[in-house]
Amino acid sequence: MKLLITGAGGQLGRDLVRVLESEHTCYALTREELDVTDGDALSGRIRSIAPDAVIYAAAYTQVDQAETDLEMAFRVNAVGAGHAAMGAEAIGAAMVYVSTDYVFDGKKGTPYLETDPVSPLGAYGRSKLAGEQLTRELSSRHFIIRTSWLYGRDGSNFVTKILAAAGQRPELTVVDDQFGSPTYTVDLASCIGRMLQTQAYGTYHVANRGFCSRYAFAEAILAAAGRHDVILNPASSEAFVLPAQRPENSALADRGLRRAGIPRMRDWKSALEHFIDSDYLLKG
Ligand SMILES: NC(=O)c1ccc[n+]([C@@H]2O[C@H](COP(=O)([O-])OP(=O)(O)OC[C@H]3O[C@@H](n4cnc5c(N)ncnc54)[C@H](OP(=O)(O)O)[C@@H]3O)[C@@H](O)[C@H]2O)c1
Repeated sequence: MKLLITGAGGQLGRDLVRVLESEHTCYALTREELDVTDGDALSGRIRSIAPDAVIYAAAYTQVDQAETDLEMAFRVNAVGAGHAAMGAEAIGAAMVYVSTDYVFDGKKGTPYLETDPVSPLGAYGRSKLAGEQLTRELSSRHFIIRTSWLYGRDGSNFVTKILAAAGQRPELTVVDDQFGSPTYTVDLASCIGRMLQTQAYGTYHVANRGFCSRYAFAEAILAAAGRHDVILNPASSEAFVLPAQRPENSALADRGLRRAGIPRMRDWKSALEHFIDSDYLLKG
């Protein structure tokens, strides 16, 4: 297949290219090569490349900053996605929109299904939800892929931040009242590749299986890295006041993948151990 990947310089974008380029022709466009807020440029690139699928990995991901930078968050996460979906539809291509667990308010208490009602708590979640809605309305061949707590080789993410902090301090404090499904970008990219081999369009939760608290995630990161010397203290989210409220429990259940017969993701701890044992060591 011929794939056009936007936001190809991001954490997920880079792993999408690494994973998919062995089997497909990837047109990997970074922000410098294609600004998704330029609707004409985006449509023009889709027309000239004529891909089989557009993977929209460009995103405005600064959750706190989005609260005061609403216009840019919506231009990137929603309006740009709408242009991509229209461009893809015009040439009969599939459209993959990568979305987030932050479309949920986190009050459910058990892992979210694809069919659960959405109710984002902040501007970032609202902008991603608007991107989902435009994609759904404008593309008849869409995959909306909600994922969560991403980490990979090329990002500043929870895993890399915990390991960096452990290198600087003997004691760390992490919240134990936020729950989610940590997800390795390489696993997500591979799953997107498998989904593109099907025509099982729709909305999916794609995260490594299972869930944990931020505290348990940090504990597993330190254990996998052999940092048993670091003391970890639990704290309440109230101790860390941030501009955007985070969902309390945004764990994702993968009923969509199971129903579509698409292989499920491995469990979050195995993925994390694999990342720290191999990929993390290659981090630049
Ligand atoms: N990270 C998470 O924990 C998480 C959780 C759930 C869902 N997601 C979703 O997963 C997807 C990938 O996230 P990620 O962690 O890979 O994010 P990321 O590292 O921030 O990557 C996003 C990429 O989009 C680019 N971008 C921003 N504005 C753009 C524009 N106007 N035109 C073109 N490119 C633009 C960014 O470029 P610059 O770096 O130059 O700004 C960056 O390369 C996103 O859709 C995100 O919403 C992420």
